[in-house]
Amino acid sequence: MSINNNDITYGVMGWPVKQSLSPELHNHWLEQQGINEYYGLIEIAPQDLDDKVLQLVSAGLKGWNVTVPHKINMMLLCDEISLTAKAIGAVNTVKVIEGRLYGTNTDAYGFIQNLINIAPAWNSWNAALVIGAGGAARAAVYALREAGVSKIYIANRTFEKAQELCTDLGGDNIAALKWQDRESVISDVSLIVNTTTLGMTGCAELELDLSTAHKDTVVYDIVYKPLMTKLLCDAEGYGLKTVTGFGMLVHQAAAAFKLWFDVSPDLNDGFIEELEERFK
Ligand code: ATR
Repeated sequence: MSINNNDITYGVMGWPVKQSLSPELHNHWLEQQGINEYYGLIEIAPQDLDDKVLQLVSAGLKGWNVTVPHKINMMLLCDEISLTAKAIGAVNTVKVIEGRLYGTNTDAYGFIQNLINIAPAWNSWNAALVIGAGGAARAAVYALREAGVSKIYIANRTFEKAQELCTDLGGDNIAALKWQDRESVISDVSLIVNTTTLGMTGCAELELDLSTAHKDTVVYDIVYKPLMTKLLCDAEGYGLKTVTGFGMLVHQAAAAFKLWFDVSPDLNDGFIEELEERFK
């Protein structure tokens, strides 16, 4: 199969997709594990998704990651969907099993694994503030709920979307906050997560006054371009523990790799640090 001049059997589907780091990660791990496959970029316009996926599967594509804007529509193309993907409402990883498409979501795993690795003490107070209510927020809220966080506040510019997220994933322990009230719970939470695009290169900054945060509060920004967003720099200024979005990217990819090849990549061979260094 030849897509974008490469023979690929795995890949990442998106529009645009050029910016994706996934090929670097997966091709390194394929080589590391001695697996003779190739992971490439698969650029598909939204209106072509259905036809292109069927075409690629019959040409021998075995598995793929899904990125913006296909994560929701990919659900409709799958024959089977994991409970996690159903709960989050999006598919980010697909495996072809005997001609059938199995879709799951490794973003929640990536989110929590990164948090546990970088800030093992994060759970100590057991309450969290999540900024945003888009696809990334859904994965984060799902992961925090599964991890047993007792109270999750969701603050979003569009309040109705925060309420919707509460209804879909919630119960009494998930509460929607108006955007202008996002700072009202900062002193009550042990974890603050930005899941919006604010702070990303080219976007406006997330304005959040952290002065009332407890000294043990962890601030997590899933944005990874830049690695240290203004939010994380502010948090460092207050002496708070920070977590960047880079590890989430790595861990969601590692979980997809495990699903496809039934082996976990070795994350301790120095490659991740090398890649992360390029973001600094
Ligand atoms: P993703 O799937 O990556 O989460 P998304 O679904 O488009 O992307 O969600 C983007 C998030 O960033 C949303 O929570 C969005 O808020 P709205 O629901 O109000 O659109 C948030 N966001 C984007 N630009 C923003 C801005 N200028 N101010 C506040 N929030 C913003």
